[in-house]
Amino acid sequence: MAERPYILLSCGMSIDGYLDDATEERLLLSNDADFDRVDAVRAGCDAILVGAGTIRQDNPRLLVRSAARRADRVARGEDPDPVKVTVTSSCRLDPEASFFTTGAADKLVYCATSTVDDARKLLGDHATVIAGGDPVDVRVVAGDLGDRGVRRLMVEGGGHMHTQFLTAGLADELQLVVAPFFVGDSRAPRFVHDGVFPWGPDNRARLAEVRRLGDVVLLRYALSERFGDG
Ligand SMILES: NC(=O)c1ccc[n+]([C@@H]2O[C@H](COP(=O)([O-])OP(=O)(O)OC[C@H]3O[C@@H](n4cnc5c(N)ncnc54)[C@H](OP(=O)(O)O)[C@@H]3O)[C@@H](O)[C@H]2O)c1
Repeated sequence: MAERPYILLSCGMSIDGYLDDATEERLLLSNDADFDRVDAVRAGCDAILVGAGTIRQDNPRLLVRSAARRADRVARGEDPDPVKVTVTSSCRLDPEASFFTTGAADKLVYCATSTVDDARKLLGDHATVIAGGDPVDVRVVAGDLGDRGVRRLMVEGGGHMHTQFLTAGLADELQLVVAPFFVGDSRAPRFVHDGVFPWGPDNRARLAEVRRLGDVVLLRYALSERFGDG
């Protein structure tokens, strides 16, 4: 079994810790400078993972936008875009979602083992569907991605995914961007949910970098000994 990938969590949140507001519209937390920074981080990863909730809510494409970064990836012998990965129990995913229809890179769907047949019927023409446990165990996902050659995984949300990677002790790095406003609505999704996190008052995470990007701030936390690898 190969080593699990280096796992980098990336997230933008409001001052009061929300990933979005409670409306159907996508809330823009970042600015252009930060979107470009995120694009560079994406370009340095082998795979990008989002939860099924983020696909349903945001319909993200999860591609590298910069032509120069795409060309650099090709010059390194990689696909222009990282592999796309998602996790679902319900398999309530639209095969026409941008996740499946944009980009030529592989798409991987880790679904609950009990729903794998349904998922393959619905999504099998668009993605590789993999049974991941009931519910899907993020350790299984990380191990399987390592076996598939993924050395660097970027987890881009939402809160359920961040919570599971953090509480499982699988996160090597957290890149947290704070936008300069409040959401103030507890119906909105939060950065993380309840859980037992390895970092508490007696085990403080290491703040490795603080970077100002216009009106947002990037906080970069080192969460494991592997921080900074690659
Ligand atoms: N600001 C940011 O940086 C950022 C980034 C990403 C997302 N967001 C926002 O975050 C919100 C979505 O976050 P979220 O926490 O609600 O959703 P999420 O984490 O994207 O996805 C949750 C869904 O993933 C599936 N899932 C998660 N863990 C699973 C497991 N162990 N086994 C099987 N399935 C599992 C389930 O899908 P099924 O229901 O299909 O079973 C679950 O409903 C959206 O509002 C989006 O805009 C913000």
